[in-house]
Amino acid sequence: MHRSHRCGELRISHVNEMVTLSGWVQKSRNLGGMTFVDLRDRYGITQLTFNMDTHAALCDSARKLGREFVIKVTGKVIERSSKNGQMATGDIEIEVTELELLNASKTPPFTIEDDTDGGEDLRMKYRYLDLRRNPVMKNLALRNRLSIETRKYLDSIEFFEIETPYLIKSTPEGARDFVVPSRMNPGQFYALPQSPQTFKQLLMVSGYDRYYQIVKCFRDEDLRADRQPEFTQIDCEMAFVEQEDVLNTFEGMVRHLFREVKELDPGEFPRMYYDDAMRMYGSDKPDIRFEMEFVDMSPVAKNKGFQVFDSQEAIIGIRVDDAGIYTRKQLDALTDFVKRPQIGAKGLVYCKCNEDGTFKSSVDKFFDQEALAAWASHCNAKPGDLILLLSGDLNNTRKQMNELRLKMGSDLGLRDPNNFKPLWVLDFPLLEWDEDSKRYHAMHHPFTSPKPEHMDILETKPGEVKANAYDMVINGVEIGGGSIRIHNRDIQSRMFDLLGFTKEEAQAQFGFLLNAFEYGAPPHGGLALGFDRLCSLFGGSDSIRDFIAFPKNNSGRDVMIDSPSPLDRSQLAELHLDTQDPEDKTK
Ligand code: AMO
Repeated sequence: MHRSHRCGELRISHVNEMVTLSGWVQKSRNLGGMTFVDLRDRYGITQLTFNMDTHAALCDSARKLGREFVIKVTGKVIERSSKNGQMATGDIEIEVTELELLNASKTPPFTIEDDTDGGEDLRMKYRYLDLRRNPVMKNLALRNRLSIETRKYLDSIEFFEIETPYLIKSTPEGARDFVVPSRMNPGQFYALPQSPQTFKQLLMVSGYDRYYQIVKCFRDEDLRADRQPEFTQIDCEMAFVEQEDVLNTFEGMVRHLFREVKELDPGEFPRMYYDDAMRMYGSDKPDIRFEMEFVDMSPVAKNKGFQVFDSQEAIIGIRVDDAGIYTRKQLDALTDFVKRPQIGAKGLVYCKCNEDGTFKSSVDKFFDQEALAAWASHCNAKPGDLILLLSGDLNNTRKQMNELRLKMGSDLGLRDPNNFKPLWVLDFPLLEWDEDSKRYHAMHHPFTSPKPEHMDILETKPGEVKANAYDMVINGVEIGGGSIRIHNRDIQSRMFDLLGFTKEEAQAQFGFLLNAFEYGAPPHGGLALGFDRLCSLFGGSDSIRDFIAFPKNNSGRDVMIDSPSPLDRSQLAELHLDTQDPEDKTK
């Protein structure tokens, strides 16, 4: 028997019991006649004591134990003379009478402690050691909990979990595909799915009217804190539903997760139209934990003789409550922030609303006290508030102001990770114009249904068509997105036409779906939630990497297994990828 108990389990009620524990040596201390060892496993830490007077040989062996050695001990539970209130097992210790070394360990390259001394690179290289640390284990436990509660909820309302293939066909769905060469089909490639989108729609055609899958998706795109090349979705689809049904079902699911896992109910999710989100927050994923809504300042700031403003399409302001005390230095730092190339504003205009009713602005030369009072009243500013303004073309100014608003929210402590404010963003545009390729792209994906009332302007004013598409946003993070789908072959064909596919291309890429729509496709819709993002949100972190057992770094590398890596020539030849091979007819 390796253990009778786990290392987090023993309490004062166990005193005098003989127990056996196994685990890793967290640390050991020699205090003259006594040696203390902290023994750790997944469940906690228990203090072991070795007594030189009664068990000299044992104590000698204990002194030789290094950090992370794996041992098994047997001994009696005794009450500690000096208790440790910080530890669950802090009332007791084990008086060891038998010690077995199960395995030695090299000195780990960083300390296996909550606050480790290891940098990110080192921890990723030795991820199996990093995974021993408490905070990482806690994150994976949270992930496990969330996946179990997701399954429980969806099972309770008769969703079916169905697996779909990973080796599929390359299709244009936003990001680049990861591709896999086919040995048996020279010169041909599978693609790894960016999502199971078309398969779940086919399952609706097949009559499985409530599908879900907690599934890996693969996208070859630039990586960030909330993006991994392989990530997990809670992917869902329902038949015979309208948008309202989908929203209610998954709002119910996420509220269930909050209740079960965080013991809180965020309440009903408010809803906002995409156009309003862009107008009020300059973002399709607004963080509504704080207000600071955009104000169109043109009526009070344009055509007043200040050239910079007069020539611009948009002048957008935000009112920052009680920030009138910002110093010149702080305001200069904000100006530097918006001028950084990543944000790209030309400059920042401010107006402080002084407590005495006067105003101080960076453009005093052009706007007198009366004009600034009009600004303040236009944004409902009170004495003590600060008004910040950016100007330029509408889209860029909105983007820049979104960044500035989020920074102000962070700086002022208004973005508490324990305060959860979910939101549905509705009525996304169906298409988005791409200047580079000079054509429209699907904003969500090509299977998204235009709003029925916009069908007649689909070809004439494609840019104005809205879709039955929605995103679930929590605390400014896009947690999920979905849509009501097209289920009619002709409309799907019109959509492919709009996206610039020839009939032949559409048939070659998506013939299977178009054909399926001719065999009784029911109305359907669904969504997918980013599972890693959901975990990191629940765990109060910005980085999804902390919630993935073996993540990739920002260059898409797994530094532990050192991948991706080159293949040798024989393997390349077998896959018909050896560019030097004169025999290969696929070149
Ligand atoms: P979408 O592309 O919006 O929709 O993806 C759904 C959700 O998946 C998460 N996500 C990611 N998470 C981590 N790393 C990534 N690289 C990454 N990319 C996306 C986001 C996002 O909201 N098939 C559609 C869904 C549908 O229409 O039903 C889809 O994949 O949280």
